[in-house]
Amino acid sequence: MRVLGIETSCDETGVAVFDTERGLLAQALHSQVDLHAVYGGVVPEIASRDHLKRLLPLIRQVLAEAGAGRPDAVAYTAGPGLVGALMVGSGLANGLALAWQVPAIAVHHMEGHLLAPMLEDEPPEFPFLALLVSGGHTMLVAVEAIGDYRVLGTTLDDAAGEAFDKTAKLLGLPYPGGPALAQLAAGGRADAFTFPRPMLNRPGLDFSFSGLKTAVMLAVRELEVAGDIDQQRANIAASFQAAVVDTLVGKTLRAAKTEGYSRVIIAGGVGANTLLREQLAERFQGRVYYPRLEFCTDNGAMIAVAGACRLADAATPDIIEARARWRLDSLQPPGALT
Ligand code: KG4
Ligand code: ZN
Repeated sequence: MRVLGIETSCDETGVAVFDTERGLLAQALHSQVDLHAVYGGVVPEIASRDHLKRLLPLIRQVLAEAGAGRPDAVAYTAGPGLVGALMVGSGLANGLALAWQVPAIAVHHMEGHLLAPMLEDEPPEFPFLALLVSGGHTMLVAVEAIGDYRVLGTTLDDAAGEAFDKTAKLLGLPYPGGPALAQLAAGGRADAFTFPRPMLNRPGLDFSFSGLKTAVMLAVRELEVAGDIDQQRANIAASFQAAVVDTLVGKTLRAAKTEGYSRVIIAGGVGANTLLREQLAERFQGRVYYPRLEFCTDNGAMIAVAGACRLADAATPDIIEARARWRLDSLQPPGALT
């Protein structure tokens, strides 16, 4: 079975074809980063309009590359995300499914991230612990099987990616801040500033990054007053990154220990952070899995593979789904609702 996957929840237009026998056949991505960079963040209206422009040519390109003609099902991101952006992908996905007379599958964006490691040569077996870290979410999830998710911890304020983006902005770096901040951090000293490791010294598995953001803001202000900028900016970036990574890794180790997991996956945009990958691999005694770098951030391949895992939910297009909010732990195993 071949599944066409369509991702349009935020600022990337992603399209891919996944074959349940042969794996990923083709994929393409158009990033809107340049369009939003001048505004310092994603502008929803611009995002929707650009998805409209890019989606059909990308679908044509990917179907031609996959060399497979009409797919057997169309999977699309139905939420959570920017509603206008989601509507472009979901409207087109359902329209194509109707025209091709194949079923459509509404995919949860975070389940897409969670299943992205399934695209790799050695995918994790169930059960595993998932650290999902993106621009909008920070979650530790106990994964027993597809659709059997228990959220063990989540962020009380900013998501990890959001913390990277906001700190990057404070340091005068361009959007999207995560990669830029990581790059600046490479030339800095992580022990130059002692930033708080939020919630690490408290019990439980929740996260909070707003206190850390305030600490960075104060440090930046002091530098500006002292006029001592360049190397110190890199030191702040490195110290901030170390604090976030320490917190994420500390809570993940705690969750794995308490819940008894020997396999951990990291996914979502912040999963592209090299220090996070290195630290978790070094400090966790079990095995760590992650998608290749390009499949950490938003992409169509993760939606296509998630759709392939959910073929039991494939249905004749009926209601076009586009949800701004959608709880991951409200999902059911494939086929449970049909
Ligand atoms: O998963 P994603 O592409 O989109 C959402 O679903 O939100 O994640 C985007 C987030 C952004 O906040 C971005 O700054 C962050 O992932 N990010 C990184 C890195 N690459 C992307 N954060 C830290 N280090 C990176 N290398
Ligand atoms: Zn995402």
